[in-house]
Amino acid sequence: MNTQIAVSMLSADMLHLHDELEKLKQAGADILHFDVMDGMFVPNISFGLPVLQAVSKQTDLFIDVHLMIQNPVDYIQDFAKAGADLITFHLESSSNPFEVIKLIKNTGCQVGISVKPATPAKALLPFLDDIDVILVMTVEPGFGGQSYLHEMTAKIAEIKSMMQDRNIKIEVDGGIDATTASEALQAGATILVSGSYLFNQREMRKAIEQLRN
Ligand code: DX5
Ligand code: ZN
Repeated sequence: MNTQIAVSMLSADMLHLHDELEKLKQAGADILHFDVMDGMFVPNISFGLPVLQAVSKQTDLFIDVHLMIQNPVDYIQDFAKAGADLITFHLESSSNPFEVIKLIKNTGCQVGISVKPATPAKALLPFLDDIDVILVMTVEPGFGGQSYLHEMTAKIAEIKSMMQDRNIKIEVDGGIDATTASEALQAGATILVSGSYLFNQREMRKAIEQLRN
C-alpha cells in the first residue's frame, strides 16, 4: 500500500484558507485532515461544520474528519452532509463505538477509530472487522506543533500485527516530520498526518515527497 500524506488544516493560515487549500493541492497532498475540537474532549476549540462546508466546496481532496469531540454520535450525519469522506471518532469519547460505526457506515463515509496515547492497542480488537482506518495519536490530542511520542512507535507495530489479512489503513497523527515519518512508516503506518511541519516548509511539495519516502 503506498504512503498517503494527510495535511492537517489546524496549522493553516485561517485568514487565507482558499489559498492554503490551493497550496496543498499544488504540493501534491493526498488528503485534507480536518481537526474538529469541542473544548470538552480536548482542551481546545478549533472549527466545525460551516468551515467544512466552505472547504469541501472548494477542494476535491479526500476529506478526513478527525472528531476530537465528546459525543460524536450526535454529529455524524452533519459532518457527512458537510463533505466528509472519512469520519474518525475517538474510542475514548462517551459515545457507544458500535453505534457510531453504524451511523458512519449509513452515511457512506469511510469509518475510522482514533486512540489517544494512553489507550492500549488491544482496545481496538472488537472493532477490527467494522472499520477502514485506525488513527494512532502520536501526541496528546488538542494541539498542533507538539513533539512525536516515540513510545507510540511500538504501538503502531502492535496494531499492524493485529491486522492479519484485513486491509485497514494505519494513519499516524502528531509530530510527523522528516525524521519521525520514517519511524512511523517502518512500524506500519500507511497514512501520515502532518500540520505544523508542512506549513512551515518553503517548498511544501518537496517536504511532502520527503515524508512519503
Ligand atoms: C492534534 C491533531 C493533529 C495535529 C497535527 O490533536 O489531531 O492532527 O493537528 O499537527 P502537527 O503535525 O503539527 O503535530
Ligand atoms: Zn488530527
